[in-house]
Amino acid sequence: PRPILLTRHGESQDNVRGRIGGDPPLSEQGEKYALRLANFVQKRLKSEATASIWTSTLQRTLLTARHIVGFPKVQWRALDEMNAGVCDGMTYLEIKETMPEEYQARKQDKLRYRYPRGESYLDVIQRLEPVIIELERQRSPVVVIAHQAILRSLYAYFADKPLKEAPHIEMPLHTIIEIQMGVTGVQEKRYKLME
Ligand code: F6P
Repeated sequence: PRPILLTRHGESQDNVRGRIGGDPPLSEQGEKYALRLANFVQKRLKSEATASIWTSTLQRTLLTARHIVGFPKVQWRALDEMNAGVCDGMTYLEIKETMPEEYQARKQDKLRYRYPRGESYLDVIQRLEPVIIELERQRSPVVVIAHQAILRSLYAYFADKPLKEAPHIEMPLHTIIEIQMGVTGVQEKRYKLME
């Protein structure tokens, strides 16, 4: 059985400020995670003949992957974080105060809610389809370095969670979720590399 390793990028400067979306660089903590992740991946995949590292096109995932050497890296636009449309760059508090109806609508139906000029979880799940097909086709391990909404959606698929739960799945920073698909179903391990 071949593992799929899922992780969010290291903490970004916008994670620190509580801003959503954007294309920020990593914070100091995030940089530390990039080093620890490389170390972990190198050890974990040492005995594998081949493996690949998949990222989004956003710099926080590229920066998180950059210390991993010896494996091909593939950038997927489909792995980019959910497009928050007019709310891109805002904090949740700013959304709540300046667009209370939008805030409430999202709270009521996080799966279907689509940001004005942006995306919903359902949109994201749909655009991830080619990534999922390709992931299932791979015969060697894949490390996916992506974003909160993206990883919730991928994880929900592989762990067979109901769609409705996907937007609420806990997906902490600085943690690797290892999924193994075997004949008896899906097995999962978590590695928390930093507090
Ligand atoms: O805050 C980080 C982030 O990746 C945002 O860019 C994104 O909009 C958000 O998480 C998705 O999480 P939620 O669906 O809970 O708002």
